[in-house]
Amino acid sequence: MGVVIAIDGPAAAGKGTLSRQIAETYGFHHLDTGLTYRATAKALLDAGLPLDDETVAEKMAREVELAGLDRDTLSAHAIGEAASKIAVMPKVRRALVEAQKAFSTRAPGTVLDGRDIGTVVCPDAPVKLYVTASADVRARRRYDEIIAKGGEAEYDDIFADVTKRDERDMGRADSPLKPAQDAHLLDTSKMSIEAAFQAAKSLIDEALIKN
Ligand code: DC
Repeated sequence: MGVVIAIDGPAAAGKGTLSRQIAETYGFHHLDTGLTYRATAKALLDAGLPLDDETVAEKMAREVELAGLDRDTLSAHAIGEAASKIAVMPKVRRALVEAQKAFSTRAPGTVLDGRDIGTVVCPDAPVKLYVTASADVRARRRYDEIIAKGGEAEYDDIFADVTKRDERDMGRADSPLKPAQDAHLLDTSKMSIEAAFQAAKSLIDEALIKN
């Protein structure tokens, strides 16, 4: 069984970039668990199936292959919305959490990022980070990212979207987004990506030495 680094936090907090950098630094496998919810949602949308039938959604969740999940093909706004809707279903969560737990045992170690890694998927992880930033900063970063890629966006729409996603992720009954009791809080509102990475690395090194 390898070492697990659990990284949670709200949408657009910078978890993805941070998790990839951490996985690369420590030579660990990385799983962006949001992609498992997105892949399930996309499969339902592509098949023209409803998003409110838990049995159908669970079946799709059980067919998701962890290998080859790719954010580029799953980044569409409609997929994110649909993912956050099916993520409230306990049977969907159970199916995906099973696959995520299996992934977390890979040697020499793994980095999993999502909403419930430290609380539900890997509650025994020796290192837990809760990465956050104010809704305004997160919306601004997402806006800048879209504009930098040559896309079009309205800041107000993105801000409304970020807060709606927070409400859904934090307000659901099953595995709501919240910091695990033993998670280290990392507020990146006023940090560069590099500063956030250095702060995360110090916390991880310290925790790994103790374990
Ligand atoms: O991180 P993301 O935006 O790709 O995640 C998409 C949705 O999936 C998010 O709104 C909530 C859900 N999700 C979840 O419920 N639990 C996770 N561990 C990861 C994502």
